[in-house]
Amino acid sequence: MEFNDNLKIKSFADYKEAYRESVEQPEKFWESVADTFYWQKKWDKTLEWDFTSPEVKWFQGGQLNITENCLDRHLETIGNKTAIIWEPNDPDEESRHITYRQLYVKVCHFANVLKNNGIKKGDRVCLYMPMIPELAIAMLACARIGAVHSIVFAGFSSAAIASRINDSQCKMLITANEVYRGSKRVNLKGMCDEALKDTPSIETVIVYRRTVEPTPMTPGRDKFWFDELQRAETTCEAEVMDAEDMLFILYTSGSTGKPKGMVHTIGGYMVGTTFTFQNVFQMEENDVYWCTADIGWITGHSYIIYGPLASGVTTVMFEGVPSYPDYGRFWEICDKLDVTHFYTAPTAIRALAKQPLELVNKHNLSSLKVLGSVGEPINEEAWHWYNDNIGKTKCPIVDTWWQTETGGIMISPMAGITPTRPTFATLPLPGVQPALIDEQGNEIAFNSKQAEGRLSIKFPWPSMARTIYGNHQRYKEVYFSTFENKYFTGDGAYRDASGNYRITGRVDDIVIVSGHNLGTAPIENAINEHESVVESAVVGFPHDIKGNALYTYVTLYNDIQPSDALIAEIRNTVSNTIGPIAKPDKIQFVNGLPKTRSGKIMRRILRKIASHDTSNLGDTSTLLNPDVVQEIMENAL
Ligand code: PRX
Repeated sequence: MEFNDNLKIKSFADYKEAYRESVEQPEKFWESVADTFYWQKKWDKTLEWDFTSPEVKWFQGGQLNITENCLDRHLETIGNKTAIIWEPNDPDEESRHITYRQLYVKVCHFANVLKNNGIKKGDRVCLYMPMIPELAIAMLACARIGAVHSIVFAGFSSAAIASRINDSQCKMLITANEVYRGSKRVNLKGMCDEALKDTPSIETVIVYRRTVEPTPMTPGRDKFWFDELQRAETTCEAEVMDAEDMLFILYTSGSTGKPKGMVHTIGGYMVGTTFTFQNVFQMEENDVYWCTADIGWITGHSYIIYGPLASGVTTVMFEGVPSYPDYGRFWEICDKLDVTHFYTAPTAIRALAKQPLELVNKHNLSSLKVLGSVGEPINEEAWHWYNDNIGKTKCPIVDTWWQTETGGIMISPMAGITPTRPTFATLPLPGVQPALIDEQGNEIAFNSKQAEGRLSIKFPWPSMARTIYGNHQRYKEVYFSTFENKYFTGDGAYRDASGNYRITGRVDDIVIVSGHNLGTAPIENAINEHESVVESAVVGFPHDIKGNALYTYVTLYNDIQPSDALIAEIRNTVSNTIGPIAKPDKIQFVNGLPKTRSGKIMRRILRKIASHDTSNLGDTSTLLNPDVVQEIMENAL
């Protein structure tokens, strides 16, 4: 087989035709997509679904291994092509180029390390790793033997690691001793050791040595990656997996309580991510694709690893940060590696746009063909800066709307095919049937009229999450109970008269900070743990680089005086419980939180005060404690 881009739609007319078919005959449409993959056994039933249970099954009876699609099937044709280019944090350290054949061998070799340590099909393995090729190798090795990976972003706290390990009862933890992040070195193994005090299901810890620093190891439990490779075979048959077997769990914030372990299954996820990857980015054989996300997020899973590797393209993995050694690093890498497709988040664009243009212009960006955006709405100013200064107005921008839960891109232009419009994610990809829902809960029909509402999806698509690990009831409540027979995204959207969608932001208690999806409830729970705090309310407010930042209102016990030290302690509590990304920007101490008579905190009012938009607070007289609103407004930060 040649370079595998046979899923590509090549014109807008083709898109319209494919879209029509995907709605009229969804099963036929997805069968023809799925047919282009390597299945050990073809499926018997393309789709079975019911959004009330909810139950969704794609390609039932099909047997496959996703690593055969990402690796084995490329060996004959593109075995010597670079699969992964790894760019280290320090520009003076050598990049690594790993071919498809080398990656295949490394994955099989490490798969045997997993087996030698007792990992079997269905076991959960937690990965807490930096952006190094070994993270990709470990995840694919899990998939090779049918183990389920659960990747925890390496910026999360030890408490976050422990709760995720315990929720899915992981048997093994794979980590690195340390990670370089800009000018800092972070002790990952130390974070793991802290977490491991309270994770009885973990039997083995495999530690990759990223630095030469001495690493304390617990005998019997902790093993070095390199030592384990020495005693492992290098060949490993791919485990036979059912299409609906679990591929991975990835935790995302919930608006209440603990994070939700979204479960993705093999067949549909592979078909969905690869199809969307090829169509949105429209890559050609020798292109170099770089997605700057961390693999700890869904963007990295779907669009650094699975989608690109199943398509046989060259994918870049970057260990560092955009500001090190200076704010020109992204552009320096694009220049150095001749990147053709660059996919990043609006928060990065806004931060980089604040820097002198000289940091962009001193690098040659002429290799770029397509620019992507993901994770939050991209504002008009950032869109134009990206278009003018990075794309030099010749690169289409694909503003891709999707979620951890959707597994793959849902609404997005296809590069060079779909007419773009700044700040609009534009049109649904084939197979995606969005619906806007009005205040009364009814679908707003598309009559070539503009409309605004809550965004939901009417029909299943292959890469959708199938459940929340261990809690199907919560899956049903969060996603399938707001609107009958529809998946509810939690986002609001505007649709123009041509059917283009613009995502307006979350309509629930999740705030997107620097592209990270944060639930306010877990942050409040963390703050309330502090011994001086009675209660707290966290809301988002607009921030010119982060998109949104967190504003926290805190009430203290009577005998406690507000102080800077207390603010620092509260911020640390959040950092230790969730991670530094969840630290509130502003903390206001108040005498009371505005509440309804039934005791519910009026976040709408708090959001407005945090945004300095107090012109229309609505009727506050019906509150339980209307007087606190005035006081909060007067002392707002
Ligand atoms: O609010 C939407 C926003 O990010 C949320 C999903 O976050 P997460 O599961 O972390 O996945 C992020 C990467 C796919 C969505 O509910 N979001 C994502 N992409 C966009 C976006 N908002 C506006 N425009 C986008 N392109």
